Amino acid sequence: MDRDQFSNVDQYIDDLFVSHDQALENAERQMAEAGLPEIHISRGQGKFLSLLCKMIGAQRILEIGTLGGYSTIWLARSVPDTGYILTLESDPFNAAVAQKNLDMAELTNKVEIQVGEALNLLPDIEAEAIPFDVVFLDADKINYVAYLDAAVCLTRPGGLIVADNVVRSGSVLNPDPSDPSAMGAAQFNQALAKQPNLESIILQQVGIKGHDGLAIARVKN
Ligand code: SAH
Ligand code: DHB
Ligand code: MG
Repeated sequence: MDRDQFSNVDQYIDDLFVSHDQALENAERQMAEAGLPEIHISRGQGKFLSLLCKMIGAQRILEIGTLGGYSTIWLARSVPDTGYILTLESDPFNAAVAQKNLDMAELTNKVEIQVGEALNLLPDIEAEAIPFDVVFLDADKINYVAYLDAAVCLTRPGGLIVADNVVRSGSVLNPDPSDPSAMGAAQFNQALAKQPNLESIILQQVGIKGHDGLAIARVKN
């Protein structure tokens, strides 16, 4: 199996299970035109995340790392009309692209984008003390351990913490100190495994996005 085959199988799965969608395709087009890096989750990952959220009846979701709002659209659609998505993004340009995409997807009312470094924004969010059902980590990998600490505080019992990019083509096996993202992901995985309040696993993934992994953790009751 080579990378083409992985992509072809992703395409096959999408054709079967992920319906054609104007708002998501618009968001992808806008992100490409705005020159954003192509690092948003895949369609299949979006569907998977959305299923996880629906399975636990999620109403409130925190996302760290908005980019152009592609994953945010998936998350926002997986909560009822009364639901709420808070998404954190350090780059105001990305946040503006995301806001436009969310407006076009008619999700403006469900989603709040806060612009700033997540580590600066999280203390106020923690101070509000309103728990989230799901926290999705997808920003800078070097701060993943700190984001995990925040997510543990912010997620209700029975809620989920999901983190993207925790395998990074296997570079987490023996992370090179000169690759801070691989180091961050590896440290995150160790911290996750040791977290006494979580039951966790990493789903290794191949597909249109190459070889990576998604960590999934459930907060114990
Ligand atoms: N979740 C998005 C992809 C996010 S890419 C999707 O799947 O559609 C990672 C994003 O995190 C980038 O937009 C980047 O600007 C943002 N980011 C990086 N460091 C950050 C930080 N310290 N605080 C908040 N956002 C950050
Ligand atoms: C990178 C970030 C991501 O969130 C992703 O899914 C892929 C790559 C990156 O920063 O390299
Ligand atoms: Mg990612």
